[in-house]
Amino acid sequence: AQDKRESLYVLSAWASKFFAEQLWKTEMGQVIGLNYFKERGYREDIIKKFELGYSPEEWTALVDKAQVAGFHPDYLAASGLAIERDDKSLYDRFRGRVMFPIHNLTGRVIGFGGRTLKTDKKVAKYVNSPESEIYHKSDVLYGLNFAKKAIMEEDNCYLVEGYADVLSVHQAGVENVVSSSGTSLTTGQIKLISRFTKNVTILYDGDEAGIKASLRGTDMLLEEGLNVKVLLFPDGNDPDSYVQKFGATAFKDYVKSNQQDFIFYKTNILLRDANNDPIKRASVIRDVVESIALIPDEIKVSVFIRECSSLLDIEERILLAELNKIRLNRAKKA
Ligand code: CTP
Ligand code: MN
Ligand code: MN
Ligand code: MN
Ligand code: MN
Repeated sequence: AQDKRESLYVLSAWASKFFAEQLWKTEMGQVIGLNYFKERGYREDIIKKFELGYSPEEWTALVDKAQVAGFHPDYLAASGLAIERDDKSLYDRFRGRVMFPIHNLTGRVIGFGGRTLKTDKKVAKYVNSPESEIYHKSDVLYGLNFAKKAIMEEDNCYLVEGYADVLSVHQAGVENVVSSSGTSLTTGQIKLISRFTKNVTILYDGDEAGIKASLRGTDMLLEEGLNVKVLLFPDGNDPDSYVQKFGATAFKDYVKSNQQDFIFYKTNILLRDANNDPIKRASVIRDVVESIALIPDEIKVSVFIRECSSLLDIEERILLAELNKIRLNRAKKA
């Protein structure tokens, strides 16, 4: 099994080099792929650092070359780079896409994300490697190998939604940034972060999906004992589009002045929807206390209860009673 894993690592590294060569050294790669990256504002040094690539718009470009290079068809299928037809013949999973290699903590390639260049809404925007013996989505954060040093130095980790966000934010000089790549945050990913810092700032897209994901992610981070700040980007922007539009300085200023402690963030979001309806307000209070009740540290809990009390203009003892009720219910369920 160890041998098999090692073979998959070697194949993934080879494939990453193949895609990069396609991007830099072929006419199609340059005209289509490299141009695409440059038009999105990525510098050459960043394109190289993240080992971005291009997969040709052909059925078996990688499969053919890999077999000539001596890789066994079983491994091509096991890595997810190739897909097996009913007659056992193989074809490339990634075709005509710009490629983002996904690295593990030690910097070895374990999978890929491929973005379409088509604007046709029927084509999936991203195709990703499936799970394999070396790629477990739920234990991987895109960009962590490039970010871990900065995360420790800054004692903070920025969490964004996508590949493009990691690239643009990193390029802007904010290198402590990682992405859960569209999947909702997992406990495994949070444990990975907490090896390097206990402070996370969520920078998600300012759409409905981003808000939902941020609330869910916040609760999971709190439960693992991390400190959470949240910031959404305005008017359909994500970190990538914001920093590319307004520049690195504006981006950093925006983040600095708009990030909110989770409790203010959650309270404000929920209150905004509740207007002045007293019943809805009551449910906001319960909802916020639910989150506070996830925090394992008692001192933090009491600080947040106090903040919440002044924020919502509710007596602390009422919030504490609510907190105890929630805890009692959870204990019963457990
Ligand atoms: N994603 C995915 N499959 C999709 C759509 C999204 O895997 N069909 C993942 C990707 O990792 C993507 C992330 O979810 O980076 C966030 O999705 P989205 O915000 O839609 O894409 P962006 O990263 O903003 O991509 P781009 O800027 O290139 O449009
Ligand atoms: Mn494993
Ligand atoms: Mn989005
Ligand atoms: Mn984007
Ligand atoms: Mn996005």
